[in-house]
Amino acid sequence: MPRHLIDIHDLSVEEIAELITLGEDIIAKPADYQDAAKRLKLATLFFEPSTRTRLSFEAAMLDLGGSILGFASQDSSSAAKGESVADTIRTVQCYADIIAMRHPKEGAPLVAAKHATVPIINAGDGGQNHPTQTLTDLLTLHREFGQLHGLTIGLCGDLKFGRTVHSLIAAMARYPGVHFVLISPKELDTPDYVIEQIKRGGATYQECRQMEPAMPKLDALYMTRVQRERFFNEADYVRLKDSFILTPDKLKRAKKDMIVMHPLPRVNEISVAVDDNPRARYFDQVRYGKFIRMALILKLLGRV
Ligand code: NCD
Repeated sequence: MPRHLIDIHDLSVEEIAELITLGEDIIAKPADYQDAAKRLKLATLFFEPSTRTRLSFEAAMLDLGGSILGFASQDSSSAAKGESVADTIRTVQCYADIIAMRHPKEGAPLVAAKHATVPIINAGDGGQNHPTQTLTDLLTLHREFGQLHGLTIGLCGDLKFGRTVHSLIAAMARYPGVHFVLISPKELDTPDYVIEQIKRGGATYQECRQMEPAMPKLDALYMTRVQRERFFNEADYVRLKDSFILTPDKLKRAKKDMIVMHPLPRVNEISVAVDDNPRARYFDQVRYGKFIRMALILKLLGRV
């Protein structure tokens, strides 16, 4: 049976620690891994737009000495002719040793995994999960703070549809002493099933409507884009899209070593004036994303 990554819970806390250690080793000694996936192929099946996730998967496999194939949009695959996910997977696994898949429908990568004889990695499914962005975020936090327990994380923006938020909460809720500050307009509140995961994991949380009062207690502020493509009508999106805009001024009351994260793409929610602020980590996250995906590919291929 191949090993898949569909939900961040598919990895134990110990396995996440191993991946972080491996990711840090690859950052330190990339040449040691340049042939680690030689002659193996990664397929990227992206039924939804992507810049960082798809390219970082591809760069990761190339830097491991492997090769890549795939498609970057639904329109350029047989999905446009009505092919099912199951049949697409049955096809692609004839040509590839591991598959990263992004799909607008929640659960599509799980369906893929049920029909797969090679590892399937969920690269984002609808508004549900994005476990490899979470691994990127965890590596970023670990490099910054040296550990993951005891952190207070502010999550701000679209907590309803933001899949990166859902996976990050699911992952972080398992570490002792974690506190979440959930900052969103009422319409974009964190779904109940995600709140349940916080409670089950033993973490604590509070919900608020403004970022300024929460700022002094945060170790990290994780900003997110309002997910236009998941809204039922444009008027609601337009009304909510600029609910939160982070500016250098708003960061003045933050702790000295507090960092600003964002999975990107950014629209308006972080002013470009923050980019030069020493707290900004969102472009570092982009860089770390390739290394943690290298670690994950090696793990799922059974190479480590
Ligand atoms: C995110 C996604 O696709 O969910 N981007 C990413 O993969 N880094 C966030 C977003 O689209 O807002």
